[in-house]
Amino acid sequence: MDKTPQTLPRESYTYSASINSEIRRAADTGIYDIRGGGAKRKVPSFDDLLFLGASISRYPLEGYRERCDTSVTLGTRFAKKPIELKIPVTIAGMSFGALSGPAKEALGRGATLAGTSTTTGDGGMTNEERGHSEKLVYQYLPSRYGMNPNDLRRADAIEIVVGQGAKPGGGGMLLGQKITERVARMRNLPIGIDQRSACRHPDWTGPDDLEIKILEIREITNWEKPIYIKIGGARPYYDTALAVKAGADVVVLDGMQGGTAATQDVFIEHVGQPTLACIRPAVKALQDLGMHRKVQLVVSGGIRSGADVAKALALGADAVAIGTAALIALGENDPKWAAEYDTLGTTADAYDDWHEGKDPAGITTQDPELMKRFDPIEGARKLRNFLAVMTLECQTIARACGKSHVHNLEPEDLCSLTLEAAAMAGVPLAGTSWIPGQGGF
Ligand SMILES: Cc1cc2nc3c(=O)[nH]c(=O)nc-3n(C[C@H](O)[C@H](O)[C@H](O)COP(=O)(O)O)c2cc1C
Repeated sequence: MDKTPQTLPRESYTYSASINSEIRRAADTGIYDIRGGGAKRKVPSFDDLLFLGASISRYPLEGYRERCDTSVTLGTRFAKKPIELKIPVTIAGMSFGALSGPAKEALGRGATLAGTSTTTGDGGMTNEERGHSEKLVYQYLPSRYGMNPNDLRRADAIEIVVGQGAKPGGGGMLLGQKITERVARMRNLPIGIDQRSACRHPDWTGPDDLEIKILEIREITNWEKPIYIKIGGARPYYDTALAVKAGADVVVLDGMQGGTAATQDVFIEHVGQPTLACIRPAVKALQDLGMHRKVQLVVSGGIRSGADVAKALALGADAVAIGTAALIALGENDPKWAAEYDTLGTTADAYDDWHEGKDPAGITTQDPELMKRFDPIEGARKLRNFLAVMTLECQTIARACGKSHVHNLEPEDLCSLTLEAAAMAGVPLAGTSWIPGQGGF
């Protein structure tokens, strides 16, 4: 018998199984991969930060007796009717078309139960969403799909979308499978034909035009509604400064982990900066302009827990927005549909082909049979619970740091486990007083 020791088969990092399978897929089909979700690669994130907590040098608050507020007001700069929220977590814009009508209804119901806002998306405002959302933000997008001036007036705030973290500089996609009669009617598109959303607004090319656009919208809405500007994590210092100059009440900043309904995988993984890397430059821009806390900052992209919320607030955000985590709370990617994910060639947690409209959970689909699986009342209950847990977790951390409002969390409450995250977040490396990367972005 041959006793020669054998080495284990060695997979290449450069040519790993998933890289090789993508090369084969591309070679077979000749088209790029489209998918939903956000960046799957590991990037520096909130997970790399820790709170210090109070002990002798800081004094904690008692959980059962001492208040720790969570309210937030968005749009205090110019709007006559700012948005008052009970919690610092909002629901991000997700389009009707990407999501089913009942899923949008559940987001509205759940957000309302939790005392927060939800947001429309590419494709316009549906009646079930408006009807079930106490506070609804209306997106004004480059595509103008479903854009209706009357809906600007029916909204509680307007969000001008310049970009998204999953694809800064690019537009979205809605494949023909999801363009049903209703979706087509709302978007003025033919039924069943693939659609690409525009990557830039048709009627302005820069901040000066944007300023005029904002004034137009303020006139239409009688200066009542807060105007948000949503940017992807590209050049957060300058983009935030220009959004403020153009007249925004609120800046929504979406980092590269941010989800999308559908775009090219190469875009999701290779364009834009991690959420963590975007916050400090955006806050610095607001501070340099004397506008921090006057123009509110809403951060999104990979926020999954109360700890993430607390870390974003400590770095200077006023609130956060969640997309993917809200969908998972509703029941998206649920292992109870494991057998069907298997049929689709995937698993519950890896499933990202939301654009194909075959979602077993009935959420990212327009298929009438699949949609029946999703109960908007039950979905809303779960979303409300999830938002409550996120808020309680954030409060727990704030109290442990001695804060009577979650907004009193600050960078000084944090340290970083890695050099990279320390430099990006502008907080000291754990065990040291060293903040690498000070002195420029
Ligand atoms: C299914 C889905 C649809 C989306 N549709 C839109 C949209 O219509 N407009 C938009 O600005 N962003 C859209 N987004 C991005 C979200 O508004 C948000 O920026 C992102 O989901 C935040 O990251 P998170 O998913 O990690 O929470 C969508 C995201 C998802 C998951």
